[in-house]
Amino acid sequence: MHHPRIIADGEELRRQVRAWQAAGETVGLVPTMGALHAGHLSLAARSVRECRRTVVTIFVNPKQFGPAEDFQRYPRDLIRDVELLAGLAASQQAREPDLVFAPAAEAIYPADFATHVEVGRVTQLWEGASRAGHFRGVATVVLKLFQLAPADIAYFGQKDYQQTVVIRRMVADLNLPIEIRVSPIVREPDGLAMSSRNAFLGPDDRRRALALSASLRQAVEMVRGGQRDARRISAAMRQTIGAVESVTLDYAAVVDPETLEELDRLDGRAVALVAAKVGAVRLIDNEILNPPAGV
Ligand code: PAJ
Repeated sequence: MHHPRIIADGEELRRQVRAWQAAGETVGLVPTMGALHAGHLSLAARSVRECRRTVVTIFVNPKQFGPAEDFQRYPRDLIRDVELLAGLAASQQAREPDLVFAPAAEAIYPADFATHVEVGRVTQLWEGASRAGHFRGVATVVLKLFQLAPADIAYFGQKDYQQTVVIRRMVADLNLPIEIRVSPIVREPDGLAMSSRNAFLGPDDRRRALALSASLRQAVEMVRGGQRDARRISAAMRQTIGAVESVTLDYAAVVDPETLEELDRLDGRAVALVAAKVGAVRLIDNEILNPPAGV
């Protein structure tokens, strides 16, 4: 099995990306925090399909974790991650990525680091309201990754829907010369959205965690059945999640796909967002709601 090259040095990464582009090759970038699963691999496989060169970054970004969050115990296994990426060639009829960028925290944030990216309104809602400073950390590291790997296209997952909105806002506002492509949520066979944090769920909580995807399926069904009152849909989602023992709802809402503001009525496209704690593990999920036109 051919393994992607692992680079820890940001300048070396930038030189390589620039050299590929000078040779006329399109470069795709897949930012991750590692602990790779089929969701991450779907992004890498897409990049490999659509771009001549692919860089996967693996960096557990301390700035996007709050002081009481799981930064210390976030799963880290670089060897396993690289094996999974190398295995892409066999498993998804793709090539393996060309490069894995796995920098040390001190290389990304030296002691005198003092600049942060603050995206406005869309970072204040939902995840932003529950996780102060989270999107500031995300935007800052993603801009740095775009600088170190000045790729043509960057791939993100719909799993973190609000994150994609924040990154698109930053790219537009700061005129960043990169295209953002978003891929669908990869789920376990029973509906649970894949997440590196699912590994923390014990067997009982793993079963209870299905409340999130079940509430979203219910939202889709309600829309299919003609329901256009967004508040009724989110109330039903809250009820479904609230009925499950050990699951503590954070929010369930039907929002505008671009502004993320809560909707009263469904006229065009909308997104149902949900976040809940299952035991001690905080999970998020979402589903795009598409009412058929004219109904
Ligand atoms: P991480 O949680 O590792 O996710 C990396 C990418 O994989 C994100 O774009 C995320 O949306 C996507 N992803 C995660 N689970 C997925 C699933 N089940 N289906 C499809 N895509 C999925 O998101 C981050 O890291 C960080 O915030 C990062 C952007 C790397 C900045 O640190």
